[in-house]
Amino acid sequence: MPAGLQEPRGLRHGYRSARLRPGQRGRQEGMTFKAARRGAIAPFIVMDVMRDAAARQAAGADVIHLEVGQPSGQAPPKVLDAAARAVRTEPLGYTLALGRDSLRERIARHYHQAYGVSVVPERVCVTTGSSAAFLLAFLAAFEPGDRVAVAAPGYPAYRNILESLGVECVLVPVGPSSRWQITAEVLAGVEGRLDGVVVASPSNPTGSMLSAHEVAELAGWCELHGIRLISDEIYHGITYGRAAATAAGMAAAPHAVVINSFSKYYAMTGWRLGWMVLPEDLARSVECLTQNLYISPPTLSQVAAESVFDCIDELEARVAAYRANRDILVAELPKAGFDRLAPSDGAFYLYADVSEMTNDSREFCARMLAETGVACTPGVDFDPIEGHRTLRFSYAGSAEHMAEAARRLKAWRR
Ligand SMILES: Cc1ncc(COP(=O)(O)O)c(C=O)c1O
Repeated sequence: MPAGLQEPRGLRHGYRSARLRPGQRGRQEGMTFKAARRGAIAPFIVMDVMRDAAARQAAGADVIHLEVGQPSGQAPPKVLDAAARAVRTEPLGYTLALGRDSLRERIARHYHQAYGVSVVPERVCVTTGSSAAFLLAFLAAFEPGDRVAVAAPGYPAYRNILESLGVECVLVPVGPSSRWQITAEVLAGVEGRLDGVVVASPSNPTGSMLSAHEVAELAGWCELHGIRLISDEIYHGITYGRAAATAAGMAAAPHAVVINSFSKYYAMTGWRLGWMVLPEDLARSVECLTQNLYISPPTLSQVAAESVFDCIDELEARVAAYRANRDILVAELPKAGFDRLAPSDGAFYLYADVSEMTNDSREFCARMLAETGVACTPGVDFDPIEGHRTLRFSYAGSAEHMAEAARRLKAWRR
């Protein structure tokens, strides 16, 4: 042992036999250690694509990132100021598991201001990103063996988290006939018992939306049939025509769980903050789960996030930029052969059917990255059934990047 370094305590106290020599496998040759099957879930492929794109960039390649589903740049200045002030003046200890009261109140007020619906602060649970909200909601609502419907294509983490919890994921293929969404009518056609359904409007990866009427109908159907509705509203605010409808505060949906986040419209992705509007019957169990799983969501982010509701002009300017990006790609991508695009009503994604170009979207995206420097995400991330023939472009970046990506893709496909 090098001078100055202390041996681990157990070794100092004579348990030298516990120390393995390099290459030694354990007490008995061939002994295996237990690893849970529920940990063996599918990767989030877009993260792998991001890693490959970053590696090419580090090696000097000029990469355009149409794979990344996050706003660029910093959170609004007011948020940064609030965070800087809090670092200097606040103790920043744990908060209540459900979050700071002032933030929960501010979120409840947001529902009144943005949608004209009444949500009481007691039903708001602040979470570590919406990602933690899914885990909490699924743990609180579903037992192993329950059956939960998710759209294909859809956000992969729903599927992967549910499966890791032993919940059966019922993939519901959606396409143009239901505007790529699970509607009440689509749900009625699903065979077998269902315990829950997860929907996202606007959706990732298609950007398509449910109308207010469809949300109400779906909520009503779920209520009537004892199906727990989980409504992922993370892309609310990023819409290009009609506003998105929330299931929160809906009289027809007293058992629905509504999930939202500061990551997308509010441009606070790395601050890792989201929230839920909980039904009464799950509120206490979610609180106890939070206390035990991670005690409380990040305090600094909670303090800062309160200010973001006062930055609507800046946030709307971002939405206008996304819209301009969308218009560039919608006009230019068909000239490169990407002419079968799902309707991008919101979010910052375009989902393309590339079945005339490939039967292997993963290989196609890898080749596109290698030959053009344009990174995008293969559909297999979102759809285990049809995703080998689709891909997702994200237009969260700059207008210059959209135009340059389109130029490169047109040259590539010529
Ligand atoms: C539809 C959808 N839901 C949830 C998330 C998770 O976001 P976060 O954990 O940052 O709130 C994402 C991230 O891309 C998403 O696209």
